[in-house]
Amino acid sequence: MTAQIAVLNGDYIGPEIMAAGLKVLAAVTENENFDYDLHPVPFGGEGIDKLGDPLPASTLATCKQADAVLLSAIGGPKWDKAERRPETGLLEIRKALNLFANIRPTVISPAMRQYSPIRNESPVDFVIVRELTSGIYFGTPRETHETYALDTMRYTENEIERIVKVGFEMAMKRRKHVTLVDKANVLDTSKFWRKITARIAADYPEVTYDTSYVDAASMKIIANPGQFDVILTENLFGDILSDEAAQITGSLGTIPSMSKGTDGPALYEPIHGSAPDIAGQGIADPLSMIKSVAMMLANSFDRQDLSDTIMTAVDQAIDDQIVTPDLGGTATTDEVTDTIIKTIKKVGQHNYEPNH
Ligand code: NAD
Ligand code: IPM
Ligand code: MN
Repeated sequence: MTAQIAVLNGDYIGPEIMAAGLKVLAAVTENENFDYDLHPVPFGGEGIDKLGDPLPASTLATCKQADAVLLSAIGGPKWDKAERRPETGLLEIRKALNLFANIRPTVISPAMRQYSPIRNESPVDFVIVRELTSGIYFGTPRETHETYALDTMRYTENEIERIVKVGFEMAMKRRKHVTLVDKANVLDTSKFWRKITARIAADYPEVTYDTSYVDAASMKIIANPGQFDVILTENLFGDILSDEAAQITGSLGTIPSMSKGTDGPALYEPIHGSAPDIAGQGIADPLSMIKSVAMMLANSFDRQDLSDTIMTAVDQAIDDQIVTPDLGGTATTDEVTDTIIKTIKKVGQHNYEPNH
C-alpha cells in the first residue's frame, strides 16, 4: 500500500516548516519499506489567493481521499480583512473531517529541560485532549448587531461523551489520570460536562479523575505541571491552555498535534500559527512540524519505529543546542532540519547494517 498524504502548505512560515517536515519524512522512510504519495493542495490564505476560498472543494476532496493530512499553519495580516478569513477554512476542515479530538502533547524531555522557563523538579509529560468541533467556536446563534454581538457556547451530550471517552482511553495507555478543566462554577455547559464525565469515569475504575477550574488550571500548568497526565477540556479552553503549556517546554514552535475523528484521515499540525513576524527569514522552528510528521507515522501508519527515530534525532539536536532563536539558539530552520536528518541517517544505518 502506498500512503496517500494530503499536504496543506499554509501561509507565512507554513511552507518553510512544511518543507522541513517533508525532508525529514523522506529521510526517515528511505530504505524503510514505506512508500507514500504527497498531494499538495491550496488551503487557508493560499486557497483564497489561488481559488478564492480558504477551503476549496477540490482541497477538501483530496483530504477526504487521503490516509492522513499534514498541515503547517495558516492565516496572517494579508487576509485579516478578507470576507472569509483563512481561519474559517481551518474550522471548516475540522468539521468536514469530523476531527473532534485534538491531542496536544506537553513534554519536557531531559534534553528540553535547559530551555524551560519554569523550575520543574518533577518530570512533565501530559497531553491536552481538546474538543475541536463544537463549543463556542461553532455554536449558533452567532451574530453582530449595531450595539451588541453574540456567540453561543453549546455542547450536546453526544459531543461530550465521545471526547471524554478519547480522554479516558488515552489515560489508560498513560499514567491513568484525567483532569477535567472547566468553568463549572459559572457555565451551564461546564456543569453538563462534569455530569457526563463523572458518569463515564465510572467505567474506568483504574483511572483517577479530578476537576479544575480553568483559571486555577492555568496557574497549575506553570506552578506544578508534573501533576497532570491527561487534561480534558472544551474547545476554547483547550486552545488557550495549549499555547500556555507549550511555552513551559521552551517554545510554542516545538509542539505538534493530532486531530482525529472516528474514521477517515487524521490531521497533523503544529499548534501554533503562521508566525508572520518571523516569516521569510529562514529562522522558523521546524520542530513542531517535524514532530507532527512523527505523530503521523505512529498514529496513521503504525510506524512507531520511524516516529521514535525522528524523536531521538530531534532530542539529539536539542541536546547539542542546534536550535532556532525561539529557543535562544542561532541555527536556521535548514540547519536544524539537516542536523536532524544527519542523525536519522546514522540511526537508520545502525538499524540497517545487520540485515545487509
Ligand atoms: P502564532 O502562533 O503564529 O505566533 C505567536 C508567536 O510565536 C510569534 O511571536 C511567532 O513568531 C512565534 N512562533 C510561532 N510558531 C513559531 C515557530 N515555529 N518558530 C518560531 N517562532 C514561532 O500566533 P499569532 O501571531 O497570534 O497568529 C498569526 C496567524 O496565525 C493568525 O492569522 C492566526 O489566526 C493564525 N493561526 C493559525 C493557526 C493554525 O494554522 N493552526 C494556529 C494559530 C494561529
Ligand atoms: C489553533 C488555532 C485555531 C484555533 C485558530 C487559528 C482558528 O489557534 O489551532 O490552536 O483557535 O483552534
Ligand atoms: Mn491556538
